[in-house]
Amino acid sequence: MWGAATSSHQIEGGNDNDWTRWENQGKIKNKEKSGKAANSWNLYKRDFDLLEKLNLNAYRFSIEWSRIEPEQGKFDQKAIDKYKAMIKDLKSRGITPIVTLHHFTNPKWLNAWTDKYNVNKFKAYVEKVVEEFGDDVKYWVTINEPGIFVSLGYQKDIWPPGFKNRRDALRALRNIHQAHRAAYISIHQIYKENEWNKPMVSMAFNMQYFEPVGNSILNKIATKMSDYFVNRYSYNKVKSYLDYIGLNYYFSHKVNIRKLKSITELDEGGFKKSDLGWDMNPDGLYGVLLSLKKKKLPVIITENGLADARDINREWFIKEHLKAVARAMHEGVNVKGYMHWSLIDNFEWADGFGPRFGLAEVDYKKFKRTPRKSSSTYAKIAKTNSLEIK
Ligand code: FCB
Repeated sequence: MWGAATSSHQIEGGNDNDWTRWENQGKIKNKEKSGKAANSWNLYKRDFDLLEKLNLNAYRFSIEWSRIEPEQGKFDQKAIDKYKAMIKDLKSRGITPIVTLHHFTNPKWLNAWTDKYNVNKFKAYVEKVVEEFGDDVKYWVTINEPGIFVSLGYQKDIWPPGFKNRRDALRALRNIHQAHRAAYISIHQIYKENEWNKPMVSMAFNMQYFEPVGNSILNKIATKMSDYFVNRYSYNKVKSYLDYIGLNYYFSHKVNIRKLKSITELDEGGFKKSDLGWDMNPDGLYGVLLSLKKKKLPVIITENGLADARDINREWFIKEHLKAVARAMHEGVNVKGYMHWSLIDNFEWADGFGPRFGLAEVDYKKFKRTPRKSSSTYAKIAKTNSLEIK
């Protein structure tokens, strides 16, 4: 599958959820608010036209819990029907939907995830959605990046709910894992009862590549520990409840204990940097993919991309990451798809509208989407299902 990814709050516009509250408190860079975002709630056909234009046959997007269940226990049939229409529209264009049920945002009525009763609330929402969408959807992502979600929201006070302690972060993480397991079981049950073809259910894990600097034993130990906390912890808690591995790859670290900031921030770069200052290391994707080989599950790269307003690195970035994927596949890793982040420019959470991740540029006044030059390279790869490696 060749595709691109987005999430509801980042593109739809007009949302009213816990992020809206956070934005109204002035917590976003330059006090920005997501507002109309890319106006995709109204203009989603423009996004789908773009997918077609780029020859993409898969689209990962998320549905907004706060739209579907604006009050606890009260579902908005109109919103559900609109998402259903989107899914039908995608399928009529030969595009496989990959549906994320939770991508960072929560309805305002939901307590923080430190509350274990969130698990049942999430389960009820998921069951409703799955019954409504039926087997028009095969690929599900229950929850996006559990580790990032709790780290920024519960440990670092950068995202809502703005908590700042490790105990809350761990408690929230535990409930998120439980919510995934419950959703996984429910989804499978519903498909079985209805005799639909088996679904493919996973989480999207933000996995990062860690490599020790030199031969130092301490650096090697620190590498192992980072890898455990960042990459293995969540995975291990849900590993019996995954039909594939959803992999979001953005970060790579050279671990040097002398420059240690914290166990999960060991940066010792040396790589090219994106507009957000994130290290770009395609080989790291190869490393992460190889580490997944023994899990014997298919892998879908559910996100990979860069902030690059001037489009100077995107072509290189896509090609090099895909070469890394190809190498991993030759080594026996079963990669089923690649979803570039993102289809269009969007609201990048606490960083606001500054970072430009889109294959297409969005003009936030007229909401026009203009494909960036690099997107034609990706479109060609998708069309020919191949990449020339020189
Ligand atoms: C990921 C998020 C996605 C987007 C990219 C840049 O961590 O899942 O929503 O913000 O980073």
